[in-house]
Amino acid sequence: MTEQQTRTVRPRSIGTSLDRVDGVEKVTGLASYAVEHGADDGVSAPLSLWLVTSTVARGRVARVDASRALDHPGVTAVIDHTNAPRLEQTDNGELAILQDDRVGFRGQVVALVLAETSEAAREGAALVDVAYEQEPHEAELREDNATYRPEQVNPAMETDTDEGDVDAAFASAQVLVEQTYRTPYEHNNPLEPHATVAWWGQHDGRDLLSMYDSTQGVHGVVQSLAPMLGLEPDQVRVRAPYVGGGFGSKGEAHAHVMATALAARTTGGRPVRLAVTRQQMFALTGYRTATISHLRLGADADGRLTAIEHAVQEQTSVVREFAEQTASPTRMLYAAPNRRTSHRLARLDVAVPSWMRAPGEMPGMYAHEVAMDELAVACDLDPIVLRERNEPDLDPETGKPFNDRRLLDCLHRGAERFGWDARPREPRAVLDGDWWVGTGVASATYPAMKQPGNTARVTSLGDGRYAVAIGSVDIGTGARTVLTQIAADALEVDPSDVDLEIADSLLPSASVAGGSSGTSSWGSAIVAAGQLFRHDHGARPDPGLHTTASAADDPAAEELAFHSFGAVFAEARVNRWTGEVRVPRLHGVYSVGRVINPRTARSQLVGGLVMGLSAGLFEESHRDPRFGHVVTQDLATYHVASHADVLGVDAEWLEESDEAFTPMGSRGIGEIGIVGTAAAVANATFHATGVRVRSLPLTPDHFL
Ligand code: MOS
Repeated sequence: MTEQQTRTVRPRSIGTSLDRVDGVEKVTGLASYAVEHGADDGVSAPLSLWLVTSTVARGRVARVDASRALDHPGVTAVIDHTNAPRLEQTDNGELAILQDDRVGFRGQVVALVLAETSEAAREGAALVDVAYEQEPHEAELREDNATYRPEQVNPAMETDTDEGDVDAAFASAQVLVEQTYRTPYEHNNPLEPHATVAWWGQHDGRDLLSMYDSTQGVHGVVQSLAPMLGLEPDQVRVRAPYVGGGFGSKGEAHAHVMATALAARTTGGRPVRLAVTRQQMFALTGYRTATISHLRLGADADGRLTAIEHAVQEQTSVVREFAEQTASPTRMLYAAPNRRTSHRLARLDVAVPSWMRAPGEMPGMYAHEVAMDELAVACDLDPIVLRERNEPDLDPETGKPFNDRRLLDCLHRGAERFGWDARPREPRAVLDGDWWVGTGVASATYPAMKQPGNTARVTSLGDGRYAVAIGSVDIGTGARTVLTQIAADALEVDPSDVDLEIADSLLPSASVAGGSSGTSSWGSAIVAAGQLFRHDHGARPDPGLHTTASAADDPAAEELAFHSFGAVFAEARVNRWTGEVRVPRLHGVYSVGRVINPRTARSQLVGGLVMGLSAGLFEESHRDPRFGHVVTQDLATYHVASHADVLGVDAEWLEESDEAFTPMGSRGIGEIGIVGTAAAVANATFHATGVRVRSLPLTPDHFL
């Protein structure tokens, strides 16, 4: 393996709307998802696994009576903490299931049932009798219990920041906005629920665990499971050929993956198949914590920010810590010389929170951008003018120059496309029949990230064709397609001459499809390998030649702050009698570097806008603190935007190329579409009605 300096790729396929290379497989049903797989021999029929989950939020499992389950026809085994295979490491409390009798949250895995059919496994699970010694629990996030200071916030950011003299600046501010904003619990609901198939075998005299898993990163699953199971990474193979969405919930292995691996350990090599139910996802596969944002903005009479404070309260789980970086965008977005941010957590006896599309930026920018709208009103300024006055010269957080900060270009372009100038300054100015009509705007930002540890392999197949291999995953975003385009341009061939192999941990290592970093990270490695291959072997290589490389770091890039930017414009109509909110127009303009495939990019950005709209109007999980679990645990009670809710949504982007960031000129697009969108909708409802709502979702009762 070589570290290779990369040159900017000359875009030929990049920038075109190549059809999805796996589109036919997907629409004809040939694409197989994790749960559809069995062992590779095609002979051993999988046993079905069903999870028994705890009905108490905290305590001990006193006794598991499996006798009735074992008597049920088809049930082959019941596994609990007394007979489960032992793990060698247990410090990841989310994955270390069935190692002791502790119960850390309601919905935790306390037993596994294996059976010949899924129906028998499910029935068997209902027949397992678990007795608990219950202890008092705490499952409610409140301002008075969110006092724990974590060492860092996701992914490895400072918990608190403090620049300048914030208190003095607030004391002398001519205009002050001081408000508290709340966002609810939200749950990732990809179309395909999580699923894992696993079997144990032998290879070269050593154990080999093979898995199909619905994951955003096959290598990540290997890295988290192998040491816990006492295996070397090359003793675990994970494949994820097709994945029906993730939004972060498949970014890390969750307890059900370990459950499948442990259950498969006991079957003498027979594969085990687990399909997590939609209901179980609400306790087992991560979610976005609720947040409480205390925002203070101090400004002079012209709206120039003198101080910003964003103090966040949210929750984690006693089982495993996850601290959402909710104040992170507040640190770098506007030019105030005095800035303070903090994160405090309630450590609750609840399921483990995790990544959900734009963790941090989504709830944090909702709060900050609604506060900015309130400041615009307080200063009697147009919200776009307010943002123009607070545009920093350098990244306020690091002091580095931004590589390419085009927030104002996004705002101005969007204003023109949206018809912003026609907007009356006063709220509650337009009544159309029974509907108050208003418009709102919000900024969006997301860091541009590249992950380490990405390697690609190029092999010549003869006749001008190439195999390009990297262990990345396409979770439905179009990664297969854009990586094919990147490989084609790096090798200076047609995309139809590239056979792309992904989604197998036997392939060269690749980082997670997360943090909007996938295409940048994997694509840079593919370019490195493609360019090195051409350099070493020329344009007419013999078949079988291969080159493996990863992209070398560019030290010059250390001097720059890389972020993407955007502006979201929304029109809201609020029914004067019912409070119902409709959003007939949503328009996002983005600066995200070069767009590799306009078709798949548009789908990502529009998807992000729709998810932001959904968060703005509907999404809200209700946790019952008496029992500790989320009671709205299906799509009937957890409302996501349906087609009828999504009216005019459009996304566009600025023509640009960020060659300091990646050799493709791209920066990443998976998450920025959701950022700021709920704030734009909230601000539009204020403009429509004059009612300022400071919590999500914007349900009708707020406007009555
Ligand atoms: Mo995304 S929440 O980083 O999968």
